[in-house]
Amino acid sequence: MMENIRRHLGLKLFLSYIIVVAVGVLVLVVASQFTLPDAFNRHMLGLANGQQMGMGLGRGQGTGMMSGVFNDFRAGFNETLLYAIIASAIVAVAVSVFFSRGVVAPLRAMTDASQRIAAGHYDERVKINGGDELAQLGERFNQMAEKLEQVESMRRRLIGDVSHELRTPLTAIKGSMEGLMDGVLPATNETYQQIHAEADRLNRLVDDLQELSRVEAGSYHLDIKPVDVSSLVQTVAKRLSLQFESKRISLDLELAPGLTRVQADEDRAVQVLTNLVGNALQYTPENGKVIISVKQKNDEVQIAVKDSGIGIPPEHLAHIFDRFYRVDKSRSRQAGGGSGIGLTIARALVEAMGGRIWVESEGESQGSTFTFTLNPAK
Ligand SMILES: Nc1ncnc2c1ncn2[C@@H]1O[C@H](COP(=O)(O)OP(=O)(O)OP(=O)(O)O)[C@@H](O)[C@H]1O
Ligand SMILES: [Mg+2]
Repeated sequence: MMENIRRHLGLKLFLSYIIVVAVGVLVLVVASQFTLPDAFNRHMLGLANGQQMGMGLGRGQGTGMMSGVFNDFRAGFNETLLYAIIASAIVAVAVSVFFSRGVVAPLRAMTDASQRIAAGHYDERVKINGGDELAQLGERFNQMAEKLEQVESMRRRLIGDVSHELRTPLTAIKGSMEGLMDGVLPATNETYQQIHAEADRLNRLVDDLQELSRVEAGSYHLDIKPVDVSSLVQTVAKRLSLQFESKRISLDLELAPGLTRVQADEDRAVQVLTNLVGNALQYTPENGKVIISVKQKNDEVQIAVKDSGIGIPPEHLAHIFDRFYRVDKSRSRQAGGGSGIGLTIARALVEAMGGRIWVESEGESQGSTFTFTLNPAK
């Protein structure tokens, strides 16, 4: 029995209601028995026969007769009291059952729903009535279920995307190998280089994916401290200068005077900027122009990479930071193969350092400008 009570909230609530009722009844009975003689004296004797003060219950003469009347009165009163208690107890039990069920029902619904969610039915939600704490709990429960559903669909999409991305180079490698084996493809250096390039692409993709999962899960350490933006920009420009020269693209720096230092992880900031400048280099045809500019605006330092390249059509702008998103999949692949992860990583890093990142482009062949912000060091 005790075990049963311990395990059922409904039973606990029901018993607590019953205990309250029982205590109430007990107090009613005791109090009425205590006050009854006095009330009898005042109402039946004192009022009816004010002069005969001595005739009161337990006070001298006439006691024998009056106590007979009193006993009859008490018997009548007690009988009425008993019926009243029985009737109210029945009603109290019914009301207690109703209310304890009312409290337990939403909890039971949530238990059932959580079990169905655990079994993989992520679209499960509970009905919400009213606005009390239980309703709030239900609301939070539904929010949690929605979040789980989103995570699950993201997970599915990610697995789909990754398999798709891996399949392309694998198919190419397999095709080339089969061609070699069947003698359809000549066993030349060029064929081997092609296969090697695809394997390389696969390798890069796996590295990028690893980096992405680390960054998205936040499982890396940020060493945030005051960093000099000018030297940061110069480092990146110097590192990429050879590649710019060989593609005959000019790379200019525009640093506003008197720049303050920024709060950043230097290596991560370099990684973000390298990513953006690398894209500008990749998506700008020969003889183009790339400018890295830094300026302070509205209590943040803005670092912009502007290119005169192929630009981004407006309908793609909103998706450009999405994982695996490429404006023209075949084009990026031919151009030495981006996998569409670079900007996703860049955004995660910038946001982890407390900044924002966005892109502007007038459209195709109009160039693009990628800007990210960092907070000034105090
Ligand atoms: N400066 C740019 N000019 C035009 N398009 C750009 C520019 N930068 C990025 N894009 C477009 O955005 C897409 C996503 O860029 P992102 O850097 O995330 O991936 P990627 O360059 O294709 O591959 P990777 O993961 O190797 O960097 C690119 O495929 C390209 O279509
Ligand atoms: Mg890129």
